[in-house]
Amino acid sequence: MQDAKEEIRARLAVEDVVGQYIELKRAGRNLKGRSPWGVDKTPSFMVSPEKGIWHDFSANKGGDIFKFVMEVEGISFREALEKLAAQAGVELTKYSGGDAKLAQRKARMKEALELATRYYQVAMTKNKPVLEYVFYKRNMNRATAKEFRIGYSPKVGDALVKFLQKKGYSMQEMQDAGLLNRFSKDLFKGRMMVPFIDTNGQVIGYTARVIDGGEPKYLNTPETLLFNKSRYIFGLYQAKEAIRRDNFVVIVEGNMDVISSHQAGVKQAVATSGTAMTEQHLKILSRLTSDVRLAYDGDDAGVKATERAINLAGGLGITLSVISDYHGAKDPDELIQKGAELWQVAVQERKPAVDWLLDKYEEKLDLLSADGKRAYSDIAMKVISYLGDPVERTHYMQKVAKRLDVSVEDLKAKKIDVGKPKRLKQVKTKGAKAERVKVLEDSLLAIMLFGGDAGEGINLEVPEDEAKLEDLEFVFEHNYQKMTTPEIREEVKALMAEYDKESRAVKIAELSEKLAEVEDDEEKSAEILREIQTLQKG
Ligand code: UTP
Ligand code: MN
Repeated sequence: MQDAKEEIRARLAVEDVVGQYIELKRAGRNLKGRSPWGVDKTPSFMVSPEKGIWHDFSANKGGDIFKFVMEVEGISFREALEKLAAQAGVELTKYSGGDAKLAQRKARMKEALELATRYYQVAMTKNKPVLEYVFYKRNMNRATAKEFRIGYSPKVGDALVKFLQKKGYSMQEMQDAGLLNRFSKDLFKGRMMVPFIDTNGQVIGYTARVIDGGEPKYLNTPETLLFNKSRYIFGLYQAKEAIRRDNFVVIVEGNMDVISSHQAGVKQAVATSGTAMTEQHLKILSRLTSDVRLAYDGDDAGVKATERAINLAGGLGITLSVISDYHGAKDPDELIQKGAELWQVAVQERKPAVDWLLDKYEEKLDLLSADGKRAYSDIAMKVISYLGDPVERTHYMQKVAKRLDVSVEDLKAKKIDVGKPKRLKQVKTKGAKAERVKVLEDSLLAIMLFGGDAGEGINLEVPEDEAKLEDLEFVFEHNYQKMTTPEIREEVKALMAEYDKESRAVKIAELSEKLAEVEDDEEKSAEILREIQTLQKG
């Protein structure tokens, strides 16, 4: 794969790849732009065409074109490689790595799925009931049906199998692609076909809805080499641009809600398909925006899902809110049928997720009874413990205390098992500190490697990774090149002092975690405590 990587790097200019996402302006030998992670106030994103690398000084990350596409799209290295290979016109299957066979198999699956999608699209035009269902019952317009590649799978038992056989695909390949049932016949029959399109615009599976009643309502492609439901986000391919542009995403429950939402002009809508939201889903979205709006049902399942999301979001720096005013409609799709503008307004009128959740429990419980108060405070404290920010936690504790007419101290004294809040908090601060240690280390390394005399006295291990070295050179040029040697020396002193302090803090946090784990072992506890104390003395 190394060869393929080099070939792609040689064919694609870093400024062209980055330029697809960010507006870049010349700044001397480099190009400058705004951070796609939205944390800079002045342009702090630099691209070096000579070195073929980029560095984001506000988000503190950098690397080559592959790293950029991974970060900005929220995809794996493999996916970034495939995406850029396509752009560069490099045939990955030619580069035999250990997984060349696998790549070949995946390529065949994708081809089969592409053909199947076209087959289903054509089949739809010939079937009156489904046309009626799609265009009248579901109110899709032609552009929407085309954009989402809606189709129809004929009722005949092996229509698709025969079609693909004629095109030269084996039963095994169809099986791989998730197109067959256990009798080696068509899996999808007599259903409206909605393709799962990945972020490269390629079909990797389907969700298929019955059109005349029957069970199950939706049939989905099983897990395959291409389709992994705990990662896949329906509609992201079509929503990406709008999410990045307007800096928010709306997560709806149903795939059809996504489609209606797009047609209604709210193109930031996506859904998780046939599964609850996972951390991977949220992580992928968090790379595009930190404003995540949930449009879940107000039923018990919706409450549970929101609680889960709050827990997952705590560690990802996401601001979660809930869209809940559906004017009596069951879901966004139904609301949109009443009026697209109702939905457009709804996505703007949202409530912070924690407030929404607390309100829900307030509705459900009798807050005047002792039992109700206990139950309410249990759940409230649990949810509050998920929050990453201490100020936010205090805000909600005060709010809950007020509602229950008790003091914040009373709440804190509850000592209920709230999903190890202390631990969570520690991990969070440790994470932030570890992040800072990395920044400091990079600065010191940059000076050590490229600062000449000014770098004497810094004693860190030199990274072996070529790309990392180039990145560090970039850091040096950007931050220190214009300084005099004495100035850099001053800087080194300050950096070292902070580096020592922060890395000690990280070590202490790690040890305290260990301490919590060996709570029952007195000997080990004492040993760890001694270590912590030594570190604290400095
Ligand atoms: P709903 O039953 O609420 O369906 O299921 P919906 O999205 O409103 O669909 P329409 O409007 O009746 O067509 C919500 C989601 O749960 C999954 C699907 O992802 C669906 O969008 N689901 C539901 C299944 O995977 N299989 C099913 O049989 C039903
Ligand atoms: Mn619906």
